[in-house]
Amino acid sequence: MRAAVVEAFGEPGVISVRDVPIPEPAQGQIRIKVVAAGINPVDTYNAKDPSWAGIATGCILGYDIAGTVEAVGHDVSSDLIGRNVMAMTAFPQGQGGYAEYAVVDEPLAAYLPDDADLVAAASVPLAAGTAWEVLEKLEPAGPLMLVIGGSGGVGLFLIQLAAARGVHVVAMGQERSHAVMHAHGATTCVDYRSPDAIATAVDLAGGPFDSIAELVGGPLTALAQPHLRDDGVIAAIAPPDLAIDALIDANQSLHGILIRDNSERLRHMADLFSGGHLRTHVTRVLPLDEVAEAHRLVDSGEAGGKVVLTP
Ligand SMILES: NC(=O)c1ccc[n+]([C@@H]2O[C@H](COP(=O)([O-])OP(=O)(O)OC[C@H]3O[C@@H](n4cnc5c(N)ncnc54)[C@H](OP(=O)(O)O)[C@@H]3O)[C@@H](O)[C@H]2O)c1
Repeated sequence: MRAAVVEAFGEPGVISVRDVPIPEPAQGQIRIKVVAAGINPVDTYNAKDPSWAGIATGCILGYDIAGTVEAVGHDVSSDLIGRNVMAMTAFPQGQGGYAEYAVVDEPLAAYLPDDADLVAAASVPLAAGTAWEVLEKLEPAGPLMLVIGGSGGVGLFLIQLAAARGVHVVAMGQERSHAVMHAHGATTCVDYRSPDAIATAVDLAGGPFDSIAELVGGPLTALAQPHLRDDGVIAAIAPPDLAIDALIDANQSLHGILIRDNSERLRHMADLFSGGHLRTHVTRVLPLDEVAEAHRLVDSGEAGGKVVLTP
């Protein structure tokens, strides 16, 4: 089968698309004929320096997969063959989606209708799962949430999931994404590039925030923290430049979040997606041979939405 293999860690050019053996499903596993593999920023990081995840050269990248079940391990029901699935491989040591076939533990797959849009489905598992984990931390704080990075892959899922629970989302992203953020459920949108972006967000929100979702990392959370109410909550998936003493003085909490594979959560995301309650914003679909260009697009932020490979 054709697969995108990392030959040496570094810039995207070290990934080569070449023939490798088709993986065999072991006990408890399924083999997926991959229709689409979603790309997340972590994949481009892993291609450069995967030491944090214990990944070695010769690996096939890609956590997010959609396709059809093509073979099963001896203890898995053959009734599953032919079913459409989305899957997130074990995280972070798993991967293998950038290939014509991928093997995952059966509980890490979620089943989709026969007419599911598999290209769209491939962009869902990791980003939507992360958004879910963020919302679980922030929703109890109250109904006014600032989302830094609302226009990104995680952000657009978070806006939808939060809006569906009645949360008012003030979403930050470039102006080019304001229409899409509104369409996904944001109450208010602010361009982070304007010099008074946080002041504008606070004015439009009409009160202190109950929570802040930090989906970018960098200086914005520190600027927003004085406008978080006492006992308010921050959830960060990327590191903010933030002094902890400011949080202590206001009894505020900071949750660091790293996604883990989670069967129950994935199957819930698949149900929401299949039911039309979770939309995804795929802006670029590229063949596997263009994996280097796909990674460049993700790194540059030019895509303005999710990027998906079609092996
Ligand atoms: N901890 C975890 O488990 C976990 C899980 C998933 C992702 N992440 C990390 O979280 C981050 C976001 O992931 P993603 O998939 O949403 O990425 P993404 O789709 O590439 O989105 C990036 C977001 O960052 C915004 N942004 C870029 N530069 C900015 C700046 N200078 N100031 C404010 N916002 C800026 C973008 O806004 P515009 O496009 O409008 O410019 C966009 O909203 C990445 O660093 C990723 O590695 C962590």
